[in-house]
Amino acid sequence: MIAGNQLPILFAALLFTACNFSFKGNTGNDTVSETWDEAKPLQEIYKNYFLMGNIISPSDLNTMRFDLLKRHYNTVTAENHMKPSYMAPSANPASDNWAYRFSEADRIVSAALDAGMKVVGHTLIWHSQSPAWLTTGNKETVLANLEKYVSEVAGHFAGKLIAWDVVNEAMRDGLTSADANGSWRNCLRLTDSGWNRAIGPEYIERAFLAARAADPHVKLYYNDYNLNNPNKARAVFNMVRDINERYPHAGGRPLIDGIGMQSHHHIKTNPQTVETSINLFSSLQVEISITELDILAAGKLLEGNPPWNNGAAQQQADQYAAMFRIFKAYASDITRVTFWGIDDGTHWRTLDGNGGHGTLLNKDYSLKPAFFSVTNP
Ligand code: G3I
Repeated sequence: MIAGNQLPILFAALLFTACNFSFKGNTGNDTVSETWDEAKPLQEIYKNYFLMGNIISPSDLNTMRFDLLKRHYNTVTAENHMKPSYMAPSANPASDNWAYRFSEADRIVSAALDAGMKVVGHTLIWHSQSPAWLTTGNKETVLANLEKYVSEVAGHFAGKLIAWDVVNEAMRDGLTSADANGSWRNCLRLTDSGWNRAIGPEYIERAFLAARAADPHVKLYYNDYNLNNPNKARAVFNMVRDINERYPHAGGRPLIDGIGMQSHHHIKTNPQTVETSINLFSSLQVEISITELDILAAGKLLEGNPPWNNGAAQQQADQYAAMFRIFKAYASDITRVTFWGIDDGTHWRTLDGNGGHGTLLNKDYSLKPAFFSVTNP
């Protein structure tokens, strides 16, 4: 049975041509062409639900892409330029006076703030995209590096950001339910995390404590992918609960303010798993944000390497709609929904060669069926 409000999407899908996937929106009666600068801003549609975000790079500034961001999104996250590999000195500094490389991040932050947007910092402590010297040495050295990096970087941006992804992707893949129900400390990545190898699991709380001290107002997040996996979700739940129980008054509130569910999904992701994890995290009384949303609809990462065609576009639209129905239902628990990509042409899965057409816009910036299912899920 097709609900009445899905009919425009179906009509619109029929207008697809096999060779050209630009999409013409449909208002219900007359078919109209709608472009990103005519479509009702996503941030306006969701203003009573949650913040709407997308990613930004310095090359987006002073271009049409920045106009697009300003129209549809009220929040931005730097896709790469606030990561340690971009901002930390590339080599181990001889002195305590580290020469950070803040200029590109500063450009992004000030342009976004001037445009009235909010900015999320991504990310302080990660096993990836960080110079190796930061995690080289004995425990004392690496802990000193961690505290210096976090406090100086969070201090540099203090007062300008709404949130920091303080620790990113600390949990390892392939957790069993026995792992998840044991100590969260044993669920952390070890061999591939220089931080955990050198410092041990306390690196997590040390990073949060340093960030809280450096910028007491910014919301501090733990951010990870596959948090719709029940075992990974349980491990994160246990970690956040434990740390917040041990630090209930870190600067007047529990140490970890929020959980970021990255949400790199695909058309076969079971939306129920997403809802179950949102439910679980909401019981911790922390913020929940969807921090890196994309939904792959084609390509070699999906079983059978399905092609990008009308059917894939419609399945993707249905999946975005299912996700947004859940986000709306849990709006009181969700602070922000951030997409990880403006258009398919510049999406990270396109650039890394895996494809997948994960975003709401075609590479020519025409609106995909997925865009319209987000506007009306
Ligand atoms: O800038 C260089 C360019 O000069 C060079 O020619 C080119 C050749 O490979 O590489 C360019 O750097 C790439 C960079 O993105 C900018 O495009 C890196 O190789 C590439 O590894 C890097 O990928 C980023 C990836 O994180 C790295 O892990 C993606 O853009 C970025 O979207 C992605 O974002 C992550 C989140 O931070 C955390 N969660 C997962 C998410 C997706 O992987």
